[in-house]
Amino acid sequence: MKNKILCMGCINIDLVMYASRIPRPGETIETDNFQTFPGGKGGNQSVAASILGGDVKFFTKLGTDDYSKQLTIAQKKCGVSMDDVLYLDGATAGIAMIMVDENAQNSILYTPGANRMLTPDDVRASSHIFDDCDILEITMESPKEAVYEAIKIAKSKNMIVIMDPAPAPKEGIPAEIAELVDFIKPNETETEILTGIAVTDEISAWKSLKALQAKGFRTPIISLGGKGALTVLDGEAYLERPLNVKPIDTTAAGDIFLGAFTSALSNGKSLKECLKFAKTAAAISTMKKGAQSSIPSIQAVEAFL
Ligand code: RIB
Repeated sequence: MKNKILCMGCINIDLVMYASRIPRPGETIETDNFQTFPGGKGGNQSVAASILGGDVKFFTKLGTDDYSKQLTIAQKKCGVSMDDVLYLDGATAGIAMIMVDENAQNSILYTPGANRMLTPDDVRASSHIFDDCDILEITMESPKEAVYEAIKIAKSKNMIVIMDPAPAPKEGIPAEIAELVDFIKPNETETEILTGIAVTDEISAWKSLKALQAKGFRTPIISLGGKGALTVLDGEAYLERPLNVKPIDTTAAGDIFLGAFTSALSNGKSLKECLKFAKTAAAISTMKKGAQSSIPSIQAVEAFL
């Protein structure tokens, strides 16, 4: 049986410029390579989960501007239910300004717009939307008080909680919340913020995995960029090795990894199978430009596997 996913996070419009390199402070560089894509970590994860076989509904706050309308249409087209999203009159959607260099690395500056106005009261008032869901997939781009409220409600309804701690709060995540999280997927930077341990090699990554578990997170999965993803399996370190691809844009690869992971989990796959599926979807996505525009089809992932 397919388990239903509730996804909560930010939806943004991504304004993306591609250039040979990212400008240094005070420098201006010209490029004629500019594109606009639907994005936001929550948006990307929900669309990836839906395209890759999940049954997904979304919760956030959007505005009434054109971007909010475009993003709603884009999410629906990808099969994500937007019926429970709140729309704040006069507010705008989130906007992300993204620069991508010739090595496919990016820098992102974003303003969450209406996403930032989501309150714990909004989440409580919408608590009925959790009732028919089995998995909560959540990012920290929404206000943290609202995120923590959603996690508490999800656990009170026996849901599995999957957290992307991006951006990681400098003060860390409270222990009473960490204990409610089943899977957390930080990258190296977020891991360092949450544990104080710089991830420089497999030994420090293993130490930080144990530190995350000591904080209460049941199954941490640290994404190590081009080096794969490290987790704890039956008490031992397990490294899911990366695929060898030539990336042109790594924007949202982490989101696509988590969306694919969540979809596989919702379809009853084992942790190892979820990781393989997720890393394959993420690797394929880096060979195409954009965030949601780079999500591969389920057939493409299966062919690669
Ligand atoms: O993870 C990539 C996403 O981060 C982009 O789509 C952008 O909107 C930012 O939220």
